[in-house]
Amino acid sequence: MCAQKVELRQLVKIFPAPGGTEVTAVDGMNLEIKPGEMVTFLGPSGCGKTTTLRMVAGFEMPTSGQILIGDEDVSTKAPNERDTAMVFQSYALFPHMTVEENVGYGLRFRRVSKKDARERVERIMELVGLQGLGKRAPGQLSGGQQQRVALARALVVEPQVLLFDEPLSNLDAKLREYMREEIRRVQQELGITAIYVTHDQSEAMALSDRIVVMNAGRIEQVGTPQEIYLRPATRFVADFIGKVNFLPCKVLEREGRAAVVEAFGRRITVHDAPDLRGEASLVVRPEAMFLQKEQGVPVKVVSRVYLGSAMQYRVELPNGDQVTVYESNPHLQDVFSAGEPAFLRLDSNAVHLLPA
Ligand SMILES: Nc1ncnc2c1ncn2[C@@H]1O[C@H](COP(=O)(O)OP(=O)(O)OP(=O)(O)O)[C@@H](O)[C@H]1O
Ligand SMILES: [Mg+2]
Repeated sequence: MCAQKVELRQLVKIFPAPGGTEVTAVDGMNLEIKPGEMVTFLGPSGCGKTTTLRMVAGFEMPTSGQILIGDEDVSTKAPNERDTAMVFQSYALFPHMTVEENVGYGLRFRRVSKKDARERVERIMELVGLQGLGKRAPGQLSGGQQQRVALARALVVEPQVLLFDEPLSNLDAKLREYMREEIRRVQQELGITAIYVTHDQSEAMALSDRIVVMNAGRIEQVGTPQEIYLRPATRFVADFIGKVNFLPCKVLEREGRAAVVEAFGRRITVHDAPDLRGEASLVVRPEAMFLQKEQGVPVKVVSRVYLGSAMQYRVELPNGDQVTVYESNPHLQDVFSAGEPAFLRLDSNAVHLLPA
């Protein structure tokens, strides 16, 4: 198997809609995915994730723009003329075939000897953890096992690019977390280039080398999970990835790459801040704030929710704004109750600046 890069150049997809109107599903995407990289398309429903993936697979033709796999322009090629394989949300297994037959299905149309096919099927089934289940029918498997069959069936043809469209959304939360680690392990073991579509931000964070955050057919930001989480480029990205507080602030001065801002009457240094002047927005993750008995910004606790792994507070700042605070507090020490005064401390290394 030879990993290839995938390139999208000015990719556009416009669908005709009822009444002679049009829907621009994908609106000029430019992206380069490196060989062996796992990239996630993340975004809200209708932002164009599936459409983009289907264009890479060849199930949908671009209205304009290009798709390259390796150095080859595959934009107008049929699905079976490009070396991609897709894993669907619905698994799409053949119910009347055994697990083995399902996994080996794609090899029937390739020049592979019976013996080689058998060996490949066996090897892939072992890789995805399906040993001993080959003779069963898909209906005799759990959801997680069926998903493994779908994964094995895609892998057995040794595609250059592996495509996933929300493959785990039919599984319960625990199994979803387990399977995403399995998918990541298999992808890394094979070193295969992969595109994974999801609207689940924690799945995207856990799986990806890089995340592509999409909004209304466009790319909002491309970056590693860390970059996306800690340095969101836009309000949309900050809001879409995890919980976040936006606090109005004023940029007072710049010190090299840092900005000194004033928010709720305090001076706060934001490291590695974009070059903004005047009114701006301080982006603070709930876990970057702490409540204490003394020292800090005086606040009032509005509400408290026990989440097991953390305590979640709503607190009111002196200017009346409210923020959400998460505190990992396993020993339940110094817990504040609703109505109590407290003092808020901010981890200034974990704050970020965006336009107001
Ligand atoms: N065959 C089609 N004909 C007309 N419009 C379409 C077609 N397929 C998709 N669309 C529209 O294109 C836009 C993008 O759809 P797409 O399925 O790519 O979204 P998505 O990001 O995968 O969403 P979801 O998270 O709900 O799966 C939507 O507005 C959708 O209604
Ligand atoms: Mg979709």
